[in-house]
Amino acid sequence: MLHSMLQIAAVFALAISTTRGQAPSRYLFIFGDSYTTTGFDARAKPQPSLDNPLGNPSSPDLTLTGGANWVDFVIYDSSMPGIVAYNYAVGGSYVNHTAAQPQGPANKTADPDFISQENTFETTLSPHVGWTSTNSIFINYFGIVDVSTQVYKGRNVSCAESMLFPADIDSYFRLLEKQYSRGARKFITVLVPPIHRAPVFNYGDTAGNGPSVEQVTSSWNSAMKKGNSKFQNAHRDAKAQIVDPTDTFNTILNDPTKYGAPNATCYSVSGNPCLWVDFIHPGHELNQAFGKQMKDVIKEMLPPV
Ligand SMILES: *[C@@H]1O[C@H](CO)[C@@H](O)[C@H](O)[C@H]1NC(C)=O
Ligand SMILES: *[C@@H]1O[C@H](CO)[C@@H](O)[C@H](O)[C@H]1NC(C)=O
Ligand SMILES: *[C@@H]1O[C@H](CO)[C@@H](O)[C@H](O)[C@H]1NC(C)=O
Ligand SMILES: *[C@@H]1O[C@H](CO)[C@@H](O)[C@H](O)[C@H]1NC(C)=O
Repeated sequence: MLHSMLQIAAVFALAISTTRGQAPSRYLFIFGDSYTTTGFDARAKPQPSLDNPLGNPSSPDLTLTGGANWVDFVIYDSSMPGIVAYNYAVGGSYVNHTAAQPQGPANKTADPDFISQENTFETTLSPHVGWTSTNSIFINYFGIVDVSTQVYKGRNVSCAESMLFPADIDSYFRLLEKQYSRGARKFITVLVPPIHRAPVFNYGDTAGNGPSVEQVTSSWNSAMKKGNSKFQNAHRDAKAQIVDPTDTFNTILNDPTKYGAPNATCYSVSGNPCLWVDFIHPGHELNQAFGKQMKDVIKEMLPPV
C-alpha cells in the first residue's frame, strides 16, 4: 500500500518535473515581419520556457492576424513537445532598410529590419540558454515589406528590382552568415507568399498594382533560391532549407468557399470567415495551413525528443 502510494507520488513528481524548471530540448530562433510577430520583447520577462514557450507577452500573444498566427500553430502543436521559440519578428520589417528604402522615412531607428533583429538576438540572448547547432533552427521570413514598399512608393518593376537586387538580397545572406558564425547550422528561408492576391493589390486596387507585385515577388523568390543554393554550397556542414508558401496560399485562395469564406478578397477583423484579416494580412485558414507546412519541415529537421 505504502509502496504503491510512493509509486504514484513518484509518477506525479516526474510529470511535474518534465515541465517545471526543465530545460527545453529544441529551439527556434525566428526573424520576420507582421506575418510572424507574436509581440515578443527580447529584453522583457518572462523569457521562453517549457511552460510558456513563446515567453512574453503571455497568452494570447500579440499577433497581427486576428488570432493565432503560423508560429502559434507550430509551437502549440501537440506533436512538438520540448520546444520553445525566440521570435524576434517585428511588424513592418525589411531585410535592410537602407537598401530597400533609401529615400526615407527619415527616422531610421524607428524602422525595424533583419539587421536590427539579428542585433537584438546577438545582444540579448542569455548565454545560459541551452541551444546548440543540432537542437535549433534559424527561421528567416522576409521580403513581404521589401517587395510591397516598392509598389507603394510608385516604383515600376525595373526600378523596384534595382533596389532589391543585389543589395537587399546580399544583406539577407550576410545576416545568415552572421547566424552561422554564432553556431547556427539549420536554416529555413521562407519565400514571399502570393501577396499580389491580398485585398490591397487585388479587389479594390484601382491602380492595378497586382501584376507588378506578382512580378517582383517572383524575382525575389528566384533570387532567394539562388542565394540559398550558394549559401548551402559554401557550408556543407549546414542544412539550408527553402519553404515556399505559394501553393499553400493558392490552394485556399482558389477555393474560398470550401474554407468557409464568401470569396478570396474580403477581410474579417477576427481572421474568419474571410481569408484575410485586413488589406494585407492572412487570417485563420491561411495561418493554420502555413503553420502545418512549417511544422512538417521543422519536425523533419530537429532531432526527436
Ligand atoms: C525616432 O524613433 C524612435 C523610436 O520610435 C524615437 O525614440 C526617437 O525619438 C525618434 N527620433 C526622431 C528624431 O524623431
Ligand atoms: C521606370 O522608372 C524609372 C525611374 O523613374 C524610369 O527611368 C524608367 O524609364 C521607367 N521604366 C519604365 C519601363 O517605365
Ligand atoms: C544595407 O544596405 C546598405 C545600402 O545598400 C549597405 O551599405 C549596407 O552595408 C547594408 N547592410 C548590411 C548589414 O548588409
Ligand atoms: C466578397 O465578399 C464580401 C463579403 O461578403 C463582399 O462584401 C464583397 O463584395 C465580395 N467581393 C466580391 C469581389 O465579390
